[in-house]
Amino acid sequence: MPKTLAFLILIVLWAITGCTKEPSGSEQSLPALTLPLPAYDYSYPDMGLAYANPGIQFFEATPEDNPVTNAGAALGRVLFYDTRLSSNYTISCAHCHEQSKSFTVSEATSRGLHGQRTHRNASHLINLRYNRRQFWDLRASTLEEQVLMPIADPIEMGLSLDELIPRLESTAFYPTLFEDAFGTSEINADRVARALAQFIRSIVSTQSKYDIGVTNDFANYSAEELAGKALFFNNITRCNQCHMTGNFYTPQAMNNGLEYPHQDLGLYAVTGNEADKGKFKVPSLRNVTVSGPYMHDGRFETLLDVINHYDHGVVAQPYLDDRVTQELTVGGTPYQLGLSEIDKQALIAFLATLTDSTLLSAPRFSNPFAH
Ligand code: HEC
Ligand code: HEC
Repeated sequence: MPKTLAFLILIVLWAITGCTKEPSGSEQSLPALTLPLPAYDYSYPDMGLAYANPGIQFFEATPEDNPVTNAGAALGRVLFYDTRLSSNYTISCAHCHEQSKSFTVSEATSRGLHGQRTHRNASHLINLRYNRRQFWDLRASTLEEQVLMPIADPIEMGLSLDELIPRLESTAFYPTLFEDAFGTSEINADRVARALAQFIRSIVSTQSKYDIGVTNDFANYSAEELAGKALFFNNITRCNQCHMTGNFYTPQAMNNGLEYPHQDLGLYAVTGNEADKGKFKVPSLRNVTVSGPYMHDGRFETLLDVINHYDHGVVAQPYLDDRVTQELTVGGTPYQLGLSEIDKQALIAFLATLTDSTLLSAPRFSNPFAH
């Protein structure tokens, strides 16, 4: 065989074996855990004036039988960052939900344990204590129900709950952490779910420039930020009619006209209701500057892309939300905002005032495993 051919075969073989080799970890190679003594304080802070609106308090979803406790959320933090929750010990929740990115990742879709891509953009995890339903299509109700789903999901973490429990039982630090959180060292799926839900609910954003602004009539805002705020809250852009309250969200799914026909049917897949085609969760815009790319499929790289969508990109369709139509009727003609470049930059500057950098670096939400 000519030398070049043999060489080529070698390369091909190397490529096949090399590329299909998946990263894998093992129990022994995992980093050590360090927790503070005493435990961090995870109780809800005084949420401040921005959250005083009864409209938001009405949607408070912390269940009475699973309040956030310091020990419970501390356990949730460990579980959130532990790669033992994936079948090959390589992926933790934080793999797709990074603290510095508002608990999402900078990719349109994220890769799970076998490198396969998730179907949608990873959600950020800010202020979920005010969300009664989870996921872009609202298919999960409580957080307690939702948090176990990624563990068993074959694309995301690929570990059955039957495998997870013995794994945690045989890990030196877990029995004590479960005892601190729940009174006995018993480990079961319900307790894993409760602890993860407590940790996620403890992630609340209260320290942005906006939170200070509501206390001083926005004296801390620049002229550009004030102009952006005025645009956000006016009856032309109608941004605040869907991104409502101090949490800048709506607890329902809506259709903001991204595409037609739909690649992803959104809420329709859950309800089977024609009018729900193309409806998706209205995410909170808190920390939105760091959480791109945007929308359920991560189609927009930048906030300017998002604003251009609302400015002139809304796509006509039968159940288009009336707030993005000319006539204010469902399924009406998509509105054309005609924003100037200055307006667009002002809106972007206003959205940046929703960034809470304290939260994005707070040690109580960070990785407790040495790395
Ligand atoms: C491989 C990436 C990946 C991993 C690992 C992962 N997630 Fe997610 N997460 C996603 C994606 C993608 C979505 C959006 C899916 C959808 O809406 O259909 C999501 C959505 C969520 C939501 C819904 C938030 C909302 O606003 O509706 C929560 C809560 C969540 N994940 C928590 C977790 C927890 C807890 C873990 C670990 C047990 C975890 N995730 C692991 C990718 C991941
Ligand atoms: C009809 C209700 C509605 C109006 C009006 C509206 N939005 Fe949205 N917004 C949504 C929905 C629904 C989504 C999520 C859609 C999806 O992913 O399919 C969204 C998503 C976004 C996102 C991406 C968030 C993320 O985490 O991916 C940004 C940023 C945003 N909107 C900003 C704005 C601004 C700025 C305005 C005003 C110019 C505005 N919105 C007006 C409903 C609305």
